[in-house]
Amino acid sequence: MAPIRRLTRILLPAVLLTLTLYTLANLNSPFTLLPPWTTTSTPSKHPIDQLLRSADADFSALLAKQTTTLASAAAAYRKRRGRHPPPGFDQWYAFAAERNVVMVEDFWDPIYHDLEPFWGEDPAVIRGRVRDVDMRIVVRDGKAETGSDWFWTQIWLEMIRGVEKFLPDMEIALNAMDEPRVVVPWEEVEGYVKKAGKGRRVVEREKVVGEFGRREEWTYMAEGTGAVWEHEKHYWLIARRGCPPNSAARKAPVVTDFNQTPFIASSFDLAHMRGGYVANFTLSTSFCHQPDLQALQGIFVEPLSVSATASLVPIFGGSKLGVNNDILLPAPMYWNEEDRFTGAEGAGIPWADKTRSPAAVWRGVATGGRNREENWRSFQRHRFVAMNNASQLHLAEMGEPPVNFALTDPRYRLSATSKPGSLPRWLASTTDIAFTDLMCAHPDSGTSCNYTSPFFTPTDAIPMAQQFRHRILPDMDGNSFSGRYLGFLRSTSLPVKATLWREWHDARLVAWKHFVPMDSRFGDWYGILEYFAGNEELGVEGHDEAAERIAMDGREWAAKVLRREDMQVYVLRVLLEYARVVDERRDVMGWVGDLV
Ligand SMILES: *[C@@H]1O[C@H](CO)[C@@H](O)[C@H](O)[C@H]1NC(C)=O
Ligand SMILES: *[C@@H]1O[C@H](CO)[C@@H](O)[C@H](O)[C@H]1NC(C)=O
Ligand SMILES: *[C@@H]1O[C@H](CO)[C@@H](O)[C@H](O)[C@H]1NC(C)=O
Repeated sequence: MAPIRRLTRILLPAVLLTLTLYTLANLNSPFTLLPPWTTTSTPSKHPIDQLLRSADADFSALLAKQTTTLASAAAAYRKRRGRHPPPGFDQWYAFAAERNVVMVEDFWDPIYHDLEPFWGEDPAVIRGRVRDVDMRIVVRDGKAETGSDWFWTQIWLEMIRGVEKFLPDMEIALNAMDEPRVVVPWEEVEGYVKKAGKGRRVVEREKVVGEFGRREEWTYMAEGTGAVWEHEKHYWLIARRGCPPNSAARKAPVVTDFNQTPFIASSFDLAHMRGGYVANFTLSTSFCHQPDLQALQGIFVEPLSVSATASLVPIFGGSKLGVNNDILLPAPMYWNEEDRFTGAEGAGIPWADKTRSPAAVWRGVATGGRNREENWRSFQRHRFVAMNNASQLHLAEMGEPPVNFALTDPRYRLSATSKPGSLPRWLASTTDIAFTDLMCAHPDSGTSCNYTSPFFTPTDAIPMAQQFRHRILPDMDGNSFSGRYLGFLRSTSLPVKATLWREWHDARLVAWKHFVPMDSRFGDWYGILEYFAGNEELGVEGHDEAAERIAMDGREWAAKVLRREDMQVYVLRVLLEYARVVDERRDVMGWVGDLV
């Protein structure tokens, strides 16, 4: 009985706190959250069953929007965007059709999300602001060039050269850093978007200008408007101004002391979770309703570098947070298909040939930002690795509070928590999760690190191709988005994805259909693992077929919509739109070739 009493002693305060938070945050919630003592009642359907079913329906609905002709694609464009397609749309369509692109207008939603505020700013001002950024690609007479030899710029240059002959003259500013750059205050973005909305219309065909303006006509309102670059290391202070004024992120007290166990307030996840699992993935990647993430994600605590602006500067980059106004392009490492990120030669290993145990593997570097003795407990990768460490869970069960994670949340009704000692044993046999490098703030300390070595041991890397011998591949953010995600999607293994980062492909992937979404606190991880991998010791069957189906559906879909061709078609579309939004006559410009 003693261990059970000990467990109760640990869990009871957590239960009470959690229930209080539920009550506070959830007075009108439609979700039923059963307290843990009802677990012995009749087994109900698992919440994941329902999420899998709705994902199938969501995906079918998306596919049903597919168009197959230029005219129907243009009609779908006008319906969704409220404007004519940009000049050059027919060439874009032909380029896409030649590459067998799946044509669903929604797939390009990120472009419109990113560019809409710019419709509320003067084109001459936008053109001027490009010059506030050093790293640029310039297109002149159908040729793309750059003066920068930074390897990312070179990769983007190659990507753009594949479509350069369709492009009007333009200047493209690029982000040289991992971290995104632009956070215009929410109130100002609202102003821009309102102004954009007023000008948005489908102009009468006769009034439409079908050509881009000529470079000679361009003016620059201020040659570089002197955007101010901020270097505040506590990025939360910058990021949260992108949230609405009445949002939790703007109102919550700012955490400044990261030298303690972070507060993991799961009630903030209720808006995007159902039955304890992510039901709205897009919302889960937005932090404005999740103020506790300020102490649970390295980017907010201390990124490697910060150079941010509050001005609406058009900077293109590979990933960004929901609040950033950067413009997305496919990330260079996706375009490059480096083997260390794709593990291509192992990606096709049949499900049945994968090892049974351990089901889940993860290897990575202790990134997330600049980890230090006073802040590492707030870093996401450290949290994930620690909560998969059997000996740390064993200590927690024995009554020693974990230093950087929370014990299991009662809403998951895990089998492994029903029996003392079971959770650590189950994790030890089901997962193999470790750092390969502690990224210590004292680099001369070799592979060890005086503040994190007591909790983590750097372990040999597992090449991507070999990771695919395991069924479940969790994936979480590093300094920014995780570059291996595309490789995971293209493989026969099941990606379990937690992220706050937005990428070019977001609108073409369906959570629970092509990947399994995970909350950024990782409180749902054990539940996800038990659902798919089961618990042999306790006789809990996993859902191996469901896991295989998502892995295969994701792989098949990635082979259709996440190819390099799809990246190029995206690049051409976003650059045509960008060229229009910086053009003086943008309000009347468009392609109307189908309306004759
Ligand atoms: C998901 O959340 C977003 C807000 O980020 C909202 O616009 C959307 O309607 C939600 N989707 C569903 C299916 O509830
Ligand atoms: C780790 O080493 C650094 C530099 O030598 C020192 O300042 C710090 O106090 C040490 N921390 C611990 C926990 O030993
Ligand atoms: C697991 O945690 C223990 C401390 O409880 C630590 O010594 C060990 O290095 C950790 N293992 C890994 C693989 O990080």
